[in-house]
Amino acid sequence: MPKKKIALVGGGQIGGVLALICAQKELGDVVIVDIPEVEGIVQGKALDIMEARPHDGYDADLSGTSDFSGIKGADVVAITAGVPRKPGMTREDLLDTNLKIISNVAKNVKKYAPDAFVIVVSNPLDAIVYAFYEVSGFPKNRVVGMAGALDNARFRTFIAMETGLSVQDVSCIVMGGHGPTMVPITRTATVGGVPLTDILSQKEIDAIVKRVQEAGTELVKLYGKGSAFFSPAAAITEMIEAYLRDKKRVIPSAAYCEGEYGIDGYFIGVPAVIGAGGVEKILEVDLADQEKELLQSTLEKVKVTVSETGL
Ligand code: APR
Repeated sequence: MPKKKIALVGGGQIGGVLALICAQKELGDVVIVDIPEVEGIVQGKALDIMEARPHDGYDADLSGTSDFSGIKGADVVAITAGVPRKPGMTREDLLDTNLKIISNVAKNVKKYAPDAFVIVVSNPLDAIVYAFYEVSGFPKNRVVGMAGALDNARFRTFIAMETGLSVQDVSCIVMGGHGPTMVPITRTATVGGVPLTDILSQKEIDAIVKRVQEAGTELVKLYGKGSAFFSPAAAITEMIEAYLRDKKRVIPSAAYCEGEYGIDGYFIGVPAVIGAGGVEKILEVDLADQEKELLQSTLEKVKVTVSETGL
């Protein structure tokens, strides 16, 4: 079987780590595209990772370029092109800059990789993925935003840290927009099948929820410059693998809703089935009344940011 081609648009902090993990997992050959100003850097990252391959023996080829035609025929395109947050900034503060960038990227992806499964990562995520969808005209099943996979991993991490139990056994869902209004669903969270509500007190669970909602900001403060990059790269890889290996994984993702949860015409975090058909299905959880209200208020936030795109 010919190797798959994975195009990473944006070879910064996330893009570099993503290239490494994709290569290590032998998901396919990787091409990193960035702007001419950093061409040497992305070529360097590609070559550096090529030279790391002999240690573990993975046969993925990597390259870096500023020429968009390099993504030609890609099976997957992961977009991290844009600017990250600095301390004190919200994700929405990035809209103007990242909107211009995504519009240009969308046109190029349409031109060179019209059959790809596209994962958008740039923030403010729910609006930027919407902009990609609008500008590219791609079908809804082949455009998805990566946020829920990361938010969910954070939720699982904090549950494991608080309970002292294996992160492997934690299962939960985070829904809604990628920001402080996101909705970690505590009612259905389990550790090894045991309800979280039987393991931790409500006060402890509430503290976890708050930390999940602010987890991105916690890292922006710690780094002082830039935002999280290891965990987003791992989350994107999970989605790429689900698609390329047709795994039918259930991954919270910013998927385009057409009636699911009463939401119509917006990308927002919902449990999505990801397989060879891209976003194959959105699973509908029977939400409690309070959860429905929280989902509605996070949707209102997303609507405001989307309206600011003018699309
Ligand atoms: N085409 C390709 N690459 C671009 C373009 C463009 N038009 N414009 C900017 N880039 C590149 C930058 O040159 C940089 O290398 O995107 C890269 C972004 O990398 P970082 O600044 O290191 O940001 P990173 O931490 O990787 O985050 C990227 O993901 O999580 C979000 O909020 C975050 O929007 C940010 C994005």
